[in-house]
Amino acid sequence: MRAVVCREYCQPEDLVLDELPDPTPQPGQVVIRVRAAAVNYPDVLLIGGNYQVKVPPPFSPGSEMAGEVIAVGDGVDCRVGSRVTATTFVGAFAEQAVVDARAVSPIPDGVDYAEAAAFGVTYRTAYYTLRTIAPVCPGDWVVVLGAAGGVGIAAVDIAQLLGGRVLAAASGEEKLELCRQRGAEACVDYDRENLRDRIKEITGKAGAQIVVDPVGGPYSLPALRGLGRGGTFVTLGYAAGEIPSIPLNLVLLKGITVRGMEIRTFASDYPDEVIRDDEELDALFAEGKLRPYIGGRFPLDDAAVALRHVAERKALGKIVIGI
Ligand SMILES: NC(=O)c1ccc[n+]([C@@H]2O[C@H](COP(=O)([O-])OP(=O)(O)OC[C@H]3O[C@@H](n4cnc5c(N)ncnc54)[C@H](OP(=O)(O)O)[C@@H]3O)[C@@H](O)[C@H]2O)c1
Repeated sequence: MRAVVCREYCQPEDLVLDELPDPTPQPGQVVIRVRAAAVNYPDVLLIGGNYQVKVPPPFSPGSEMAGEVIAVGDGVDCRVGSRVTATTFVGAFAEQAVVDARAVSPIPDGVDYAEAAAFGVTYRTAYYTLRTIAPVCPGDWVVVLGAAGGVGIAAVDIAQLLGGRVLAAASGEEKLELCRQRGAEACVDYDRENLRDRIKEITGKAGAQIVVDPVGGPYSLPALRGLGRGGTFVTLGYAAGEIPSIPLNLVLLKGITVRGMEIRTFASDYPDEVIRDDEELDALFAEGKLRPYIGGRFPLDDAAVALRHVAERKALGKIVIGI
């Protein structure tokens, strides 16, 4: 099988397309014939050795995939030929991937491979955030930073489903237009406008109730300043590169809550909520109430171009590699 391989920590262009032996499943594992894999920002960090968790090379990047089961190990209750999606840590940018059977879910009818691959990580991140970490109440203003990115669009969609009003903050008209199409009530270009002032103008006296921040850098502090009394700021990631510092007096003066959410530790930190949240989210996906926006599709040979697209802030929604 062909697989994209990171032989040493590198730039996307240094990845190689290798011919590797087909994987065989161990007990408790399944092998998936991958049809689509989604690109996530952490893939860029991981191949560069810059992610908080390091994977020693060589490895194939890619953490989200969709395809058909082609082999199952002992003790696995999964039919060969079933259409499934799976989230792993690495290994999705390949024609075949071996994964723990517990990481596999069926793809709902009417959902194609690209949509299935693009859904899991970002929509779970946004759902855990807005359902459990900072629950949205009907009518709440939810400010989403990087709102046209993967986590951002998911947060825009989910905030509205939970009854919130969305203020989408992103760079450039193309990204803001996508947020409008997804239903954002207000849009701010945070590279051209004063984010704090615009949040206050738009949300009025009460200010915003929630900020969802997967971007960090210079955008976090103005957004936090736009929160109203008792609001909640959720930090999710630092796509802008810099990890910002927050003056604690702002937290004190407005009674703000600052929280973090990490998809890898959410299940162990919130064992009951994760079951409820996953069931609700799976139902919303199966019913067609949530669908990811796919802004670019690339063949496996162009995995480097796909990763570069995400690294250079060019992606709208999700980027998918078709295999
Ligand atoms: N906490 C969790 O469990 C969790 C789960 C998934 C992802 N994450 C993190 O969330 C962040 C976003 O992930 P994602 O998959 O949504 O990424 P993405 O699709 O690439 O979106 C990131 C957004 O960040 C903005 N951005 C600002 N400066 C940037 C820069 N210098 N380079 C790249 N993007 C920049 C871009 O929007 P504008 O151009 O509009 O500014 C971009 O749309 C990452 O840091 C990722 O590690 C965290």
